[in-house]
Amino acid sequence: MQCGVKCRRAAGQAQAGRAGTLARKQGEFMLDESEIESCYLGQFIPLHYHHNMLADQSRMHGFKSAIAYAVRPGAKVLELGGGTGVLSFFAAAKAEKVWCVEFNPDMVKEARRLLAMNLNGHKVEVVHADAFEYLPPEPVDVVICEMIHVAMLREKQVEMIESFKRRYLERFGGPLPVFVPEAIIMAVQPLQQDCDFDGFYAPIVQFQENSVIHTGTVELAPPSVYRMLDFTLSNEMTIAWDGKFVADRSGTLNALRFITKNVLAVVPELSSTIDWLNHYMTLPLANPVQVKAGDVLQVSFQYRAGGSIASLQATLQAKVLYEFALQPRQHGPAFA
Ligand SMILES: C[S@@+](CC[C@H](N)C(=O)[O-])C[C@H]1O[C@@H](n2cnc3c(N)ncnc32)[C@H](O)[C@@H]1O
Repeated sequence: MQCGVKCRRAAGQAQAGRAGTLARKQGEFMLDESEIESCYLGQFIPLHYHHNMLADQSRMHGFKSAIAYAVRPGAKVLELGGGTGVLSFFAAAKAEKVWCVEFNPDMVKEARRLLAMNLNGHKVEVVHADAFEYLPPEPVDVVICEMIHVAMLREKQVEMIESFKRRYLERFGGPLPVFVPEAIIMAVQPLQQDCDFDGFYAPIVQFQENSVIHTGTVELAPPSVYRMLDFTLSNEMTIAWDGKFVADRSGTLNALRFITKNVLAVVPELSSTIDWLNHYMTLPLANPVQVKAGDVLQVSFQYRAGGSIASLQATLQAKVLYEFALQPRQHGPAFA
């Protein structure tokens, strides 16, 4: 969203030969990782985008319920990346004190203005700081952090929580606070994806609502979980996967759908969780492959949490490992 001049300048520099790894891989007009980060909506979300987040009911309802569950009366709460302050506002309904850390000065001003108009806003202290450096003045019971993008790309959730835990334990010792979200489950699914837009063929990244049927999408196999992150444990920044699917339909495998379920709170007394499912992200494959029902497909990719979508896309590989017709007849799964 900060594109425009800065983007064009960066693109010019890339053309001039200062291009990084990605640029070298994909051609001289591509931006490198740091340029992508500074040119597009990534770590810092501009003010005009916050309405979309406030209007996203599944996100809002999920966080509201999870925070109501996790924050006990009188609790001390820290929010990392407060934006408008809405999640701190939810926490302030029960908490005694909330520290709401935000880096973007426009959002700091806005959060202070909005919280002053809302119930319990006086319990929230909006702190203008880099959450990678900030620690609260005393131990807290709950930490809320919503720096979440599908597949943990672009925004810095994983790195932020890992940094926070390290610094918090050094300063205060244990125990760690409860995290909202507590965990993330990520899955991938092979698709035949229609890329026709009114006659214009455009195989580009697509974000899809997860609660509707997409007529242009054929699911070629059920999704497979490729990584679970539990924020109470330490998590690797590199996410790599090499796995197999058995196609249950024939079609053209031309895209992979990335699915991200955020476990906002675990509710053991109900043997349940409070979840928020991100929009699906569908990435086109550079080399589509024809598949038949029963074929064994091999899919692999690798990226760094917080990296760009392009960095993941550049590593996507999919192929038919065994054709159904050529497999020896057997009773168990072909690749067991
Ligand atoms: C996805 S928004 C969520 C905002 C708000 N918590 C909500 O749920 O509506 C992430 C917020 O984190 C802020 N942010 C990103 N990196 C940060 C950092 N290093 N320190 C503090 N805030 C940061 C962004 O400016 C943005 O407002």
